[in-house]
Amino acid sequence: MVAPPLMLSDMSTTFDAKAATWDEEPRRRAMAMDVVAAITQQIPLAPGHRLMDVGCGTGLVGLPLASITGSVLGVDLSVEMVARFKAKAAAAKLTGVAAEVRNLVEDPLPGSSVDVVVSAMAFHHIDQIDPMLHAIAGSLVPGGWLAIADLETEDGSFHAEAVPHNGFDPVAFLDRMRCAGLVPASQQRVHVMRKPPSNREYPIFLAIARKPA
Ligand SMILES: C[S@@+](CC[C@H](N)C(=O)[O-])C[C@H]1O[C@@H](n2cnc3c(N)ncnc32)[C@H](O)[C@@H]1O
Repeated sequence: MVAPPLMLSDMSTTFDAKAATWDEEPRRRAMAMDVVAAITQQIPLAPGHRLMDVGCGTGLVGLPLASITGSVLGVDLSVEMVARFKAKAAAAKLTGVAAEVRNLVEDPLPGSSVDVVVSAMAFHHIDQIDPMLHAIAGSLVPGGWLAIADLETEDGSFHAEAVPHNGFDPVAFLDRMRCAGLVPASQQRVHVMRKPPSNREYPIFLAIARKPA
């Protein structure tokens, strides 16, 4: 039987329990490497860019990108994920790295101050994605970039528990970005994750949009 979808408060607890061992799973690291590679190919990241990673987890995507930009702000609902993100940054002696427990929908960043927002595998955990896309769009400077990687539509077998979205149609996802006031730039499949025991394949897309200049 599939468990009911998680509430926001449960979300933190669920991911808190996974934070310590999150990076040990090779499939997560492989996914993040491909997402990072695709982002760096398609977005002209540069030193000095203000970068934010939404649903940052332990930083598998945000921290490698911070080695280019020199800084990143990770935001996540999970206290333990945020703590792990900070600990990894400290161990790597990365300066310019910050992370916060923050729900951007309820507590948006003040003003438009971010050049690039990235997010990997977080949106299918977010019940209301349109308010989140609006909050992110509001945080971007004119001309700023948004890159979201997530599951393509799947049959619900990716998670043992129910989640708000069993992936997304990438083209429809670009439309949601457009409705948030962004200009869709591209979408492409950037990775195929295989999960045991069946080693079934779950494609992952990267959707990119820009805030009008
Ligand atoms: C599957 S993990 C992905 C973590 C990381 N991006 C990665 O690729 O390894 C999803 C993360 O999104 C976070 N999350 C879920 N809903 C969120 C929300 N509304 N705002 C911020 N973070 C959220 C969870 O706490 C969790 O750390």
